[in-house]
Amino acid sequence: MEAKSPSESRTTLTDLVLPSETNPLNNLFGGELLARMDRAASIAARRHSRRIVVTASVNHVAFNKAIPLGSVVTVEAAVSRAFKSSMEIFIDVWVEDRESGRRSKANEAIYTFVAVDETGTPVHIPPLKPETEIEEQRFAAALRRKQLSLVLAGKMKPAEATELKALFEE
Ligand SMILES: CC(C)(COP(=O)(O)OP(=O)(O)OC[C@H]1O[C@@H](n2cnc3c(N)ncnc32)[C@H](O)[C@@H]1OP(=O)(O)O)[C@@H](O)C(=O)NCCC(=O)NCCS
Repeated sequence: MEAKSPSESRTTLTDLVLPSETNPLNNLFGGELLARMDRAASIAARRHSRRIVVTASVNHVAFNKAIPLGSVVTVEAAVSRAFKSSMEIFIDVWVEDRESGRRSKANEAIYTFVAVDETGTPVHIPPLKPETEIEEQRFAAALRRKQLSLVLAGKMKPAEATELKALFEE
């Protein structure tokens, strides 16, 4: 299978924060942001694999900045590494300043999706070829995150997590 670049899967969703999507502080409800990120990541995973994709794991979410009611929020997702059937998706969340139009980073997240056939069985996907410096960095760290996710899910023995062990031996 031919390698694809992250730009081939990059997916951008822009939407407003409406009153029904906020918490009592009038900021975007965390679950609503998770759903928007899941949707963008799912489209990115589908664009990379051209298969049915399912969310296997939410590896990391950082709600660094509250997003107020009425904000214009952009969720940007792209595949950061492809393994055999699973893909790591990196998601950046931006908020647009009303007056200047300048975007600032509000949150980020990392999801894992798996490509499956009609019976739900994992299938092989194309490899990913990073192009920019940040894509290279995200690609390089993805194996470590995959191993951590598998260890936490009880699907890998800690002793087999070579990338994690290397972290502590440095
Ligand atoms: C995701 C799913 C297909 C994995 O099935 P499985 O039987 O564990 O399959 P495998 O063990 O062959 O794993 C498939 C791939 O997923 C990866 N994977 C599975 N669980 C993972 C986890 N928690 N974190 C990271 N990767 C994971 C495996 O490492 C493997 O990757 P690779 O093929 O790229 O090496 C299956 O668990 C599933 O269908 N889950 C439900 C998905 C769903 O409904 N999501 C929506 C939530 S409501």
